[in-house]
Amino acid sequence: RKNLTIGLFGFGCVGFGLYEVLHKTPGLKTTIKNICVKHPEKARPIAAANFTFDKNTILSDPEINVVVELIDDSEVAFEIVSEALKNGKAVVSANKKMIAEHFQELLDLQREYQVPLLYEAACCASIPIIRNLEEYYDTDLLQSIEGIVNGSTNYILTKTFAENLSYETALREAQENGYAESDPSLDTQGIDAKYKLLLLLAHAFGQIVKPQDIFNFGINKLRDLDLQFAKEKGLKIKLVAQAFKNENQSISCFVLPKFVKPGDKLFDIDDVFNGIITQNNFSDTQFFVGKGAGAFPTASAVLSDLSALTYDYRYEYKKLNQAEILTINNELVLKV
Ligand code: HSE
Repeated sequence: RKNLTIGLFGFGCVGFGLYEVLHKTPGLKTTIKNICVKHPEKARPIAAANFTFDKNTILSDPEINVVVELIDDSEVAFEIVSEALKNGKAVVSANKKMIAEHFQELLDLQREYQVPLLYEAACCASIPIIRNLEEYYDTDLLQSIEGIVNGSTNYILTKTFAENLSYETALREAQENGYAESDPSLDTQGIDAKYKLLLLLAHAFGQIVKPQDIFNFGINKLRDLDLQFAKEKGLKIKLVAQAFKNENQSISCFVLPKFVKPGDKLFDIDDVFNGIITQNNFSDTQFFVGKGAGAFPTASAVLSDLSALTYDYRYEYKKLNQAEILTINNELVLKV
């Protein structure tokens, strides 16, 4: 197995989480050589000597063989990741927005420079869903994938529903717990869920879709009446991302709040947990559950990618196509 010398970009919630997790995982032969951050003046919990403010300290260091990108700004992240790949460094990223917006370009870079980009942490944090799908999708056996893929909104829905917290208080708690995006409207409008669905579509069905082509409706548009109705009927509301094959093999996909009833698999997935249900011709139903946001659950997925890089794992992208988009009755349908 390879030794990894890491250049880390970003030392926020997940960056610090990864630092902690790596120091508690001595089995993995990794060293963080440098951490690149934006603000020199900010007080940080570890020695100043660990940090650099110049991205080239990492990007042009031949000893660093892995770049871990955990920053917020998706365009700056794209520049860093592109340059790292061009310099032959493997990359691990948790930046679903950056990957969703630049999927094809990132794919081309990986092919041209023959280096892997892994992003298990970008989709449902602690649930290893990308890796699981990776073993299936070229077999054409997957029929549908459906789930709760955003931790913050599930936390907000749980708290407003079960504990009668106000929407604002629940959102503030999601932010304080490090679950929400720095712009929380990405969570509440269903956009973060859409980025994740886009990654799932590529790995589940081999289809590349642009974010603007997937319909999303967020929990910010729910009315008191919707919550009241759910309560009266013994239902819950969950923000669900869904993609399924139609009879003619086209794929429908969208992000929508849905009513779920007791006995439904997603009914008991509360708080910051995510849950994903896949339907596969032979294995039948599978149900993946785990924490979908937060420093340590996300860092654990980054760690699994680092572990995979020690044996040169890469996604195979066996049969990706640019999806042809059709709209039928306002529902997005991808032609396969
Ligand atoms: N804001 C995201 C969420 C973080 O709440 O799910 C994890 O991707």
